Amino acid sequence: MKHLQIDLRNALPFVNTENYKSYEQLTKNEYQKVTNKTGKGNDFLGWVNLPENISDHHLDEIISTANNLKKISEYIVVIGIGGSYLGAKAVIEAISGQFDHFKKGSSNPQILFAGQNLSEDYHYELLEFLKDKKYSIVVISKSGTTTEPAIAFRLLRKDIEERFGKTEATKRIVAITDKSKGALRNLTNQEGYKSFIIDDDIGGRYSVLTPVGLLPIACAGFDIKQLVNGAKSMMDISAKSFSENPVFQYAAIRHILYSQKKTVEILANYDPRLNFMAEWWKQLYGESEGKENKGIFPASVSLTTDLHSLGQYIQEGLRNMFETVISVDKTKYKLEIPSDNDNFDKLNYLAGKPLDYVNKMAELGTTLAHVDGNVPNIKILLPEISEFYLGELIYFFEKACAVSGYLLDINPFDQPGVEAYKKNMFALLEKPGFEEETRKIKDRIS
Ligand code: PA5
Repeated sequence: MKHLQIDLRNALPFVNTENYKSYEQLTKNEYQKVTNKTGKGNDFLGWVNLPENISDHHLDEIISTANNLKKISEYIVVIGIGGSYLGAKAVIEAISGQFDHFKKGSSNPQILFAGQNLSEDYHYELLEFLKDKKYSIVVISKSGTTTEPAIAFRLLRKDIEERFGKTEATKRIVAITDKSKGALRNLTNQEGYKSFIIDDDIGGRYSVLTPVGLLPIACAGFDIKQLVNGAKSMMDISAKSFSENPVFQYAAIRHILYSQKKTVEILANYDPRLNFMAEWWKQLYGESEGKENKGIFPASVSLTTDLHSLGQYIQEGLRNMFETVISVDKTKYKLEIPSDNDNFDKLNYLAGKPLDYVNKMAELGTTLAHVDGNVPNIKILLPEISEFYLGELIYFFEKACAVSGYLLDINPFDQPGVEAYKKNMFALLEKPGFEEETRKIKDRIS
């Protein structure tokens, strides 16, 4: 069976060979801190063994809950933000048909998202859209107190209770939150919603393989057991020796490039279905590494689309970046370029070729051009986009992120910087308990 692979042929020429070899030991040391739970933030390592610890019984309970919601819903609204949103959205977008939301009569409900922003218009339009639809809610918040999802839940809960009545609404709401703390847990216990627990030792951005990601993905009709199998496969691969271990190699090369002042990593795909995978990856790496005035800035492009916008900068702008391409070997469908009698567009030289052949040549041509422009290129090869390989990809990035964070000597599992905006927002909103901050911020802006 094929697995995710890494190809460093267009990155290694940028680094010193002896230095790269020294990372064989360095990555192993940091990996051991992750698996032995001896590094910084070691109380947030519950995700490490998750793929082999998730029981079939637990997965069956998630699937059965999803099936119950599916029976009564045309739409399921998943409420959450950050780690309580991006993983599910990334996987669902990657596997769904790109025009499915225009199709009628699908056996699976469409998944909609709320509480991932504070836009009044977004939430107004969502409520308007749901007016005559049968829908359910999966509300996700580990802390149970995050403002964005809490407001969205307040709005949607009111709507669903008014539309379906309180008893029916209770059957249409599933909560995923802490086992005992937070407003969402209290409400869940009070109202008797079906609920799942996010374990204390799993942070938001490492929670895709918990009910946080798995329930929405199952609701969308996808195979969560295969997703977990893929993660388990990568868990085994990540224990191999350096030369066979994409996790070690990725962590090593990005750390060396960072130490050579390549401080921006651009995650590129050649399939727009992976755009949200990049959003998930940006959160994972940005929130894990960006602290103590350190860290690679994670950016992303969707190619070839962005070759007609950001391509110029990547080719010739500030030389502070490297590129990581997620390259998908096999497409799901085949589409040949037709021959044309008049050949008015001069494309007959491509007649009979699959469109993916052109895409692959664009990828190769772009890689070589960027390398010539001094942008090192890391290639992550995925055999195809499926639940199994997305599971491998997710666990690959998670494990490499932990090892990378330890190489940087930071705690990859906390996010102290996220509090700064919240403090200001609460002060400006005059939240009870923030009186002193409100006074100070009002002086500052007056
Ligand atoms: O990765 C993280 O920890 C964050 O992005 C959180 O997931 C995000 O802030 C949402 O938090 P919560 O699930 O507590 O609502």
